[in-house]
Amino acid sequence: MEDLGTRVPLAPYTTLELGGPAACFASAHDVASLTRLLAHAEEREMPVVILGGGSNLVVADTGFDGLVIAMRMRGVTTTRQGDVVLVEAAAGEPWDELVDRTTLEGLAGLECLSGIPGLVGATPIQNVGAYGQEVADTIASVRVLDRVEKRVVELTPAQCEFGYRDSMFKRDPERYVVLSVVFALVPDGAATVRYAELARALEGRPRDVRTVRETVIALRRAKSMVIDPVDPNRRSAGSFFTNPIVDASIADALSAQHENMPRWPQPDGRVKLAAGWLIERAGITKGLRRGHVGISTKHALALVHHGGGTTTELLALASEVQDAVRARFGVELHREPVLWR
Ligand code: EPU
Repeated sequence: MEDLGTRVPLAPYTTLELGGPAACFASAHDVASLTRLLAHAEEREMPVVILGGGSNLVVADTGFDGLVIAMRMRGVTTTRQGDVVLVEAAAGEPWDELVDRTTLEGLAGLECLSGIPGLVGATPIQNVGAYGQEVADTIASVRVLDRVEKRVVELTPAQCEFGYRDSMFKRDPERYVVLSVVFALVPDGAATVRYAELARALEGRPRDVRTVRETVIALRRAKSMVIDPVDPNRRSAGSFFTNPIVDASIADALSAQHENMPRWPQPDGRVKLAAGWLIERAGITKGLRRGHVGISTKHALALVHHGGGTTTELLALASEVQDAVRARFGVELHREPVLWR
């Protein structure tokens, strides 16, 4: 049996550095060890959660009363298939190492997703996106362990039901464990330059995938969205809320009252608003402090932990932000990171 730790502190496994212990903790290095650990938990009727890079995770101060399985599967394989290169990366591969490697090879499709913390296996779950790209644009298939059927299956993108920061995995979190993800990337392909801020930053520069990667990292760094050990905003989970999507009539009414409110039309006719903008205009300023937690000095959408704090404090601040935006704009903000309690 795999090494099973008990009462293992989870805070060091999260980028927020918050939260209590796991009742049990073990690492899965391959499908066989993952299967053994799941069976062990099932026999004991222990709840199970899967740990990736911990960069989109909030753990309660009381910890998690079950088994935490850390995904440690590694490996990347590359196959040419017609006009594309299929890159299969194991769930435990660090995401940004994959982006670094594929952009070095001149493969297009992941360049705008540079500088994002976490592991490959988590990316399909919330359909990670940034600067005009999301993983759903290039995912060819996702290999998963089906915990109900107890077998490995390959899911198509349609079966994953991707949406904005959303997928079938998020709606049915108990069912599958992601083992690896296959991305279809384009050799010597054009970089995606869709996001206005990125296009501005690239003015006068070449638009190859390597330059786009460097530019995205610089933009993220300026917003404290790259994990940097000396950045005082470093303990965060990135965006703490998703950008709200509202009916066009609501967006129009708000635009009429607030000149220059950022808004992006969605394919279904609704409108995405900028949560960071709403938060600031609701009076929650960058750099605000509440005890040991606060708002990032660089981006109103990131809640940060300054050390020595608790998840209770963080969640109280999150509620304060939601209440302020609701009171000022009548818009509901939804938490982006996963919460274990
Ligand atoms: N804004 C403000 N104040 C702020 C922050 C932003 O007014 O403090 C305004 C900006 O001026 C801009 C708009 O809000 O007009 C959008 O801001 P930004 O370009 O920084 O992007 P975002 O919508 O806040 C999203 C993603 C990020 C991703 C960036 C870039 C979500 C929840 N967040 O943020 O993803 O990096 O776009 O594409 O969709 C994450 O999910 O953890 C994450 C960091």
